[in-house]
Amino acid sequence: MNQFSNDFYTYHNNELYCEEVRLSDIAEKYGTPVYVYSKKSMLKRLKTFREAFRELEHRIFYAVKSNSNISIIRLFHAEGLGFDVNSYGEMTRALKAGVLPRDMIMSGVAKSDTDIKEALKAGVAILKAESKEEVELINHYAGELRMVQEIALRVNPDIIVPTHPHISTAASGNKFGIDAEEALQIYNSAGLYQNLKFTGIDVHLGSHIFDTVPYVTVVRKLRDYIESIERGGVFIKHIDLGGGYGVSYTGGDDFPFGELSSELKNLFPGKERTIYFEPGRYLTANAGVLVSKVLFTKRNGPKDIVLIDGSMSELMRPALYGAYHEIYNNVVSPGEEMMVYDIAGPVCESSDYLAKERKLYPVKRGDYLSVMSTGSYGYVMASNYNTRPRPYEILVDGNQYKVIKERETYESLMSGE
Ligand code: LLP
Repeated sequence: MNQFSNDFYTYHNNELYCEEVRLSDIAEKYGTPVYVYSKKSMLKRLKTFREAFRELEHRIFYAVKSNSNISIIRLFHAEGLGFDVNSYGEMTRALKAGVLPRDMIMSGVAKSDTDIKEALKAGVAILKAESKEEVELINHYAGELRMVQEIALRVNPDIIVPTHPHISTAASGNKFGIDAEEALQIYNSAGLYQNLKFTGIDVHLGSHIFDTVPYVTVVRKLRDYIESIERGGVFIKHIDLGGGYGVSYTGGDDFPFGELSSELKNLFPGKERTIYFEPGRYLTANAGVLVSKVLFTKRNGPKDIVLIDGSMSELMRPALYGAYHEIYNNVVSPGEEMMVYDIAGPVCESSDYLAKERKLYPVKRGDYLSVMSTGSYGYVMASNYNTRPRPYEILVDGNQYKVIKERETYESLMSGE
């Protein structure tokens, strides 16, 4: 009955559950809005990802930016993953979760001097650079520390990727990566950088991609490109394809791994090179929901409007990208006729809608509604606009659940002012 049953959100006796926990119980206990995550969903998706590439020499680095709660990092750490961190802040979270620096790689289009120095001092496995100036700076700081750092260049593969323009990163002229020609010159002059060892290449394409064509296109381009790098004397021992593997928010198909997997096996057989993946959304998006309470309902002109206590402060994606998230009644009443509603939050912005024109069972004040697929880029992008404390995060495992982040207090919001 429910398209998210794969991700452990199902109805029992007309009530929405995460695994074996009734979501309304969590909402009543901790108040709303509240983020809830299913552990089983994340583990199941990790298993699927691993299966897809099992015949390939590969390593998975969870993209911490998609959901950086320390308990989520710990969960993937227990599964043996590495971690892609985007800043010293994310690195600190991973360290707190018990991850060793040698299991981390650091991305970031414009790292601060602190990001770079701390990553070097800690000893992250690989630092990725996105400009010649950054290569020089990493070399400089590594010299100060009398060390040799492994690095990879993020190369702009110059292709058009069909996804939302705000989350596509692979076209020439955008801020990400280094143009291929310049990157080749840098690899060819590797000897100039005494404190760097060039060992890899990175081509993250963007996010929420469902089409294998851009990946396959890039992987094919890479084979020749890597040959030219290696003619200059640098051996590329890892190829980092980044993240971006889309998951359906509407019950459709997820990113089809098959074609990419076989292409990679054909082009890069053997064990001399390792393919790195940095999935974020694939592992966490559908594991999460944002449960909110209905504050008021009203009819304005032609519209039936439901005002909930969740908003663009907790979930920015609909306002920012026009992103589509399913909205479910926590209690369904199958005998009743569904109504069409716009679902909006309390923030003073015309864009503060979580969804428009959605069919729901009739809604009244005090009901709970769940915004689905909010495990990635939900909490991590939340703000305090309108001085709204960021909500609780709860992790469900079977019939158990625990708080993995407490709601912010008004005191903590104002501290330091
Ligand atoms: N690796 C790098 C270098 C990245 O920049 C990203 C995401 C990932 C991996 C993980 O991508 P994923 O597998 O999650 O698609 N806030 C946007 C998404 C921004 C993605 C940024 N980079 C959203 O809500 O759709």
